[in-house]
Amino acid sequence: MAHPLVELKEVSKTYAAGDMRIHALRDVSFQAEQGEFITVSGPSGSGKSTFLHLMGAVDAPTSGEVFLGGLEISRLSDEGLSEIRRKEVGFIHQFFHLMPTMTVYENVALPLLLQGRKRAEIKEMAENALARVGLSNRMRSFPRQLSGGEMQRVAVARAIIHKPRLILADEPTGNLDSGNSQNVLELVAELHKEDGFTVVMATHDQMPLRYATRRVGITDGRLEEGC
Ligand SMILES: Nc1ncnc2c1ncn2[C@@H]1O[C@H](COP(=O)(O)OP(=O)(O)O)[C@@H](O)[C@H]1O
Ligand SMILES: [Mg+2]
Repeated sequence: MAHPLVELKEVSKTYAAGDMRIHALRDVSFQAEQGEFITVSGPSGSGKSTFLHLMGAVDAPTSGEVFLGGLEISRLSDEGLSEIRRKEVGFIHQFFHLMPTMTVYENVALPLLLQGRKRAEIKEMAENALARVGLSNRMRSFPRQLSGGEMQRVAVARAIIHKPRLILADEPTGNLDSGNSQNVLELVAELHKEDGFTVVMATHDQMPLRYATRRVGITDGRLEEGC
């Protein structure tokens, strides 16, 4: 039987902060089918990033089960998580996370270089990813020579270079002006619609919502459908 791409079953995540325990996620159950574009809205500190990190094999839950592509990932070691993450997930962050001393091409190729793939294969994949985001002509530039919108497009190319099944975007427009935000959102929407990527995007503004096939919200670590 087909399984959802992502499944969380009664997942909680707590963090220790001195003597206190912070309940970042409380008893969250959730499924994402292949091909969905889901937005996750909620105020700062509500648990959006934690939610994305758990489904994206960045971190493990305190309790409950997480499945990615039908495989349980909630009890994996850090090494096991990173192996799954490198294969299945592409991350887009609010602050781009580009390496300032590397060119655009090197930044995009980096995930594959770390996997020890063949140089010719890496070149072809990096060139394809950069063409997909419209930055073929900026391959030799450094991040500081780009606008914020262009930097985020580089980060998008890096996220899709290995053709992951799941794209996780954590407030990808949070650091962009409205024109660049629009461009980045349209690019992600195209990747969903034309290239078939499944997207889960955290946001605290309203703009991305119209691209979504489904919306959920998080308040104080609790998930609600249809926000
Ligand atoms: N590594 C961590 N250590 C301790 N507390 C954390 C950690 N990561 C997140 N938190 C706390 O968990 C809660 C949810 O955080 P987060 O998932 O980052 O929310 P959001 O992305 O919605 O802003 C917040 O109270 C935050 O301070
Ligand atoms: Mg966050």
